[in-house]
Amino acid sequence: MLSTVKTMALRGLEGFLIDVQVDVSAGMPSWDIVGLPDTSVKEAKERIKIAIKNSGYELFSRKIVINLAPANIKKEGSIYDLPMAIGILKSIDIIYTKQTQDILMIGELSLNGNLNPINGALPICIEAKKQGIKKIIMPKQNVKEASIIDGIEILGAYDLSEVVHYLNNDIKITPNHITWEECLENGEKYSLDFSEVKGQENVKRAVEVAAAGGHNCLLIGSPGSGKTMIAKRIPSILPDLSFEEALEITKIHSIAGTLKEDVPIIINRPFRSPHHTISSASLVGGGKSPKPGEISLAHNGVLFLDELPEFNQHTLEVLRGPLEDGIVTISRINGSLTYPCNFMFVASMNPCPCGYYGSSEKECTCSMQEITKYMGKISGPLLDRIDIQIEVTPVKYRKLENEEPVETSQQIKQRVNKAREIQRARYKEEKIYSNSSLTPSLIKKYCKLDKESKNILEIAFNKLGLSARAYGRILKVARTIADLEASEQIQKSHIAEAIGYRNLDKKYWKN
Ligand SMILES: Nc1ncnc2c1ncn2[C@@H]1O[C@H](COP(=O)(O)OP(=O)(O)OP(=O)(O)O)[C@@H](O)[C@H]1O
Ligand SMILES: [Mg+2]
Ligand SMILES: [Zn+2]
Repeated sequence: MLSTVKTMALRGLEGFLIDVQVDVSAGMPSWDIVGLPDTSVKEAKERIKIAIKNSGYELFSRKIVINLAPANIKKEGSIYDLPMAIGILKSIDIIYTKQTQDILMIGELSLNGNLNPINGALPICIEAKKQGIKKIIMPKQNVKEASIIDGIEILGAYDLSEVVHYLNNDIKITPNHITWEECLENGEKYSLDFSEVKGQENVKRAVEVAAAGGHNCLLIGSPGSGKTMIAKRIPSILPDLSFEEALEITKIHSIAGTLKEDVPIIINRPFRSPHHTISSASLVGGGKSPKPGEISLAHNGVLFLDELPEFNQHTLEVLRGPLEDGIVTISRINGSLTYPCNFMFVASMNPCPCGYYGSSEKECTCSMQEITKYMGKISGPLLDRIDIQIEVTPVKYRKLENEEPVETSQQIKQRVNKAREIQRARYKEEKIYSNSSLTPSLIKKYCKLDKESKNILEIAFNKLGLSARAYGRILKVARTIADLEASEQIQKSHIAEAIGYRNLDKKYWKN
C-alpha cells in the first residue's frame, strides 16, 4: 500500500515541503530510496529497520520503495528517519488513521527507537507555518527552540512508538508554546558589565558612540591595557533585541547546531570571538555541507577579532565583501546558499610586535621595518571599513583602586537606545537602520555641515594629513555623536570628536 508523510528540506534558511511516499509490497525483499537522497539519507535504511523492530513492530521481508518528492531538491542528513519510518508503518497498517498527511514530521532515530535531536528545527517550523502546515512532530529535545512560533502546534515525542500511539489516537501529546515575554523574563542576561572597567572614560565614550551608530571599531594599545576586557562588554550596551532580530539569530544558530537545548530563543546579541587560527571557511561559512560561519553566527551582534594582525591575511580579505553587504553567499556544487551577516565588527591589536610602540610605560624594541610590516598586515581596504579607531592606554593604579561607583552598562545602553530611535525614525524611508550604513549619497543628504564645522574639517585634513577615505567615516560618526545629544544639526564639537577617532591612521599607518 502507498502512504505519504510530509517533511521538510532546508537549503540555507529556505524550507521546501517534501512528500515522503512509501510503497511496501510483497515480493523479493529489497529497499530503495529515490528522489535525490545523499549518502547520509541512504544510510538511514539499517537504522530505521532496527528502530522499527526495537519499537516492537514486525516488518517481515518485503519490497520497500521510498520516494522523496520533489526529486530536484537534495535531501541531506538524518531528519527524514522519522517520516520514512512512519510512512512504512502506515503502509503496513500499523498506523491506521488518515491524519498523517497533514502533519509535518522531522527527527533522527536511534537503534532503540528513540528520537534524537536535529539541527534546524526552528527555521523548519517557521517555513512550515508559512506554507500552511498546522502541526509538526519533532524530537522532544527540539521542542523548546521551536515553541516560540505560534499558530502551529509543536508536538515533541521521545520515541517512535510514542508517535505511532499518538497517530492512532491512543494517547495525546500536549503542544508546547512559550511567549517572547516569558523568554525575556527567564533567559540568562548578559553577564559582563562596563561597571567592572575602571577609568578608561575616553575609551568607553568611543565604544558608546560605536554602539550608538553601529560603527565598526578598532582598539589599539599595549598588552594588558584592557582591550579584550572592553570589547567583550560591547554587547551589553547594544540596543535590546527585537523579537524579529532574535528569531533571525536563533534560526542561524539552529542550523549551525550551536543552540543550547534549554534555550528556546537567543535573547542576547551574539558576541563571537574566533581564534586567529580560524580558516576562511569557518569564518565566512562553507565546507562540504555548508554551515553558517562565524560572521553569520555574529549576525545582529558583534564579531570580535582579537589580535587582528595574527589572523591570516587571506582570511581577513574575505571579510571585506560581507562587511559591506551584510549577507554572505556560499557557493557549493549544487547551487549557492545565502546567510545574513549583519554584525558590528570589533578588532583589537597591539601597535607593534612587542606591543609598546608609542607607549609611555615601556620602550618599544621593534625596528621601524618590523613595525611597518606588522601594521601593513591590516590592509587599506579593511582599515577603510573601520569607522572608529580607539587608542587604549593602561589605567593608572590610582583608578584601579578607586571604589567609587562606575556607570553600568544599563545606563550607557539607555543613551544608545535613544540615539538609535532617532536614527530609526530618520531613516524609515531609506531601508537602513543606523548611521553606519549611510551611503555616500545619504551622507550628503543627512550629514550637512555648517560653515564653522566645514572649516574644522578642512583644517584637520590639511594639518593632520587625513586620508580621503577618512572623510565619509568622520561625517557618519559625527552624525552619531550629534544623535547622542539629540542634536538635529551636526555641530563643530561633534566633528572635532569624530576627527579624533580617525587620527591613528597617521600615527600608526603613516598615510
Ligand atoms: N580599566 C580596567 N579596569 C579594571 N580592570 C582592568 C582594566 N584594564 C585592565 N584590567 C585588568 O587587566 C586584565 C587584562 O586586560 P585585557 O586582557 O583586556 O588586556 P588586553 O589589552 O587585551 O591585552 P593583550 O594585548 O595582552 O591582549 C583584565 O582582565 C582586567 O582584569
Ligand atoms: Mg587581549
Ligand atoms: Zn614594539
